[in-house]
Amino acid sequence: MARVVLGVCGGIAAYKAVEVCRRLVDAGVHVAPVLTDDAQRFVGAVTFSALASEPAHTSLFDGPEPIPHTRLGQQADLVVVAPATAKLLGKYAAGISDDLLTATLLATRAPVLVCPAMHTEMWEHPAVQENLATLRRRGVHVLEPATGRLAGGDVGAGRLADPADVADTVLALLGARGGPLAGVRVLVTAGGTREPLDPVRFIGNRSSGKMGYAVAAAALRRGARVTLVTTQGRPAPAGVDVVRVETAQEVHDAVLARLDATDVLVMAAAVADFRPKAAAGQKIKKGEGVPEVVLEPTPDVLAAVAGRRRRDQVVVGFAAETERLLEHARDKLERKRLDLIVANDVSAPDSGFEVDTNRAVLLDAHGGTEALPLMSKDDLAGVICDRIAALHSSAGAGPSYDSAAPAQEDPDE
Ligand code: CTP
Repeated sequence: MARVVLGVCGGIAAYKAVEVCRRLVDAGVHVAPVLTDDAQRFVGAVTFSALASEPAHTSLFDGPEPIPHTRLGQQADLVVVAPATAKLLGKYAAGISDDLLTATLLATRAPVLVCPAMHTEMWEHPAVQENLATLRRRGVHVLEPATGRLAGGDVGAGRLADPADVADTVLALLGARGGPLAGVRVLVTAGGTREPLDPVRFIGNRSSGKMGYAVAAAALRRGARVTLVTTQGRPAPAGVDVVRVETAQEVHDAVLARLDATDVLVMAAAVADFRPKAAAGQKIKKGEGVPEVVLEPTPDVLAAVAGRRRRDQVVVGFAAETERLLEHARDKLERKRLDLIVANDVSAPDSGFEVDTNRAVLLDAHGGTEALPLMSKDDLAGVICDRIAALHSSAGAGPSYDSAAPAQEDPDE
C-alpha cells in the first residue's frame, strides 16, 4: 500500500484537505496527516485522525515518537502539501525546518507535490513565484491554483486546486491511478523549434505548444505516465516529466533516446524542416551587409521513429496545413507510418496557432476519417487520448507498419 504524508497548512482552504484525505484513503492509499499549528486554527486534528490511516501528527516534540519527521519522511512514497501557503513555500525553498511539516519535507527523499492556495496578490508576489521556481528546479511538483472565489468574497487566481484534482495528481505521481491509459508511457512533444542564426537570433514558427500541453494533461488524467519534450518555458501539469529542448535536433535526440521506453508517441511539436547550415559564433552585425543564410534539412523525427518503432507502439502525428488538408494529411500518415494523424487547417481563424480552439480531422491507418466539430484544444486533446487508448489496447494486433522496411524520407539515417 502506497504511503502518503498529507501536509496541511493554515489557510482557509485547509477544510478542502479533509476531502483530499478521504479521496486518497478511498483509493487505497495509507495517509499520514501532518498539520501545522495554523492549520489547526481552521480544521481540527480530530477530523483528520478520524478519516486518515493513522492519527494526525501536529508536533515535532509532543507526540509519542521522539523523531517523527524522519520516520514520516523516510516511509513516505510521496509527500503532498495542500493547501501550501506562501509561508510554507518560503520556508521549504529556504530549507528552514522549524516545525513537523517542514522537517518532514527536508527529511524525505520521496517526490513532493505542493498545492499552493493564497490570495491573488500573494500568489503573484515575486517572492512567492521565485520560491516556486526554486522548488520546481529541485524537482518539486506544483499543482497550480485555480481561478475563482477566494476568502472574503474576492475573485482571482490562488484558489486551491479542486480536491479531486489534488487526489488525482497524487495518484498519478504514485503511478497508482486507473483510467484508460493507466500505466501507459506517453511521450508528447510540444511547441515550435528554434534554429539559431547567431547567439541572439533564431528561425522559429508560430506554434504556442498549447495542443501538446493539452494532450499531456489529458493523457495524465487518463492515468498515463507522461513525458513532455517541450520548447516552451511554461510549467507543465504537475506529475508530468519535462524535458526542455530548443532545436529540431534536440527534439530528435530527446525522442529517440526515450523511444524504447515509450508506448505512445504524440508528435505535436512544430519541428522546423530547415535550419541554418552554420550558426554564426558572434552576433551578425548590420554594418557587414545583408547576410546570406544557407539552410540545410533537419532530421525528420517521425521518419526516424518509423524505422525503429515496435508494432506495439502507437505513433501519432499532426498535420498543420493551409490547403488540400486531407490529401496532405493522408500522405503524411502513410509516409511517416503513423497510426493516427490529427489534421487541421491553420489558415482558419478558429483553428490555428495561439488560439484556444481547434477544428480537426482524425485520419487513421485503416483509412478511417473522423471530422470533429470546432472544440477547445483541451476537449480535442481528450478525444485524441480516447482514440489513442483504443489504439493502444489493440496495438500489435493491428495493421501496424513493418519497421524493417525503411521510411521514405529520413535524412538522419
Ligand atoms: N515532424 C517531425 N520532424 C520534422 C518535421 C515534422 O517529426 N523534422 C512531425 C511533426 O511533429 C508532425 C508531423 O511530422 O507531427 C507533420 O509535420 P509537418 O510539418 O506538417 O510535415 P512535414 O513532414 O514537415 O511536411 P511539410 O513541411 O511538407 O508539410
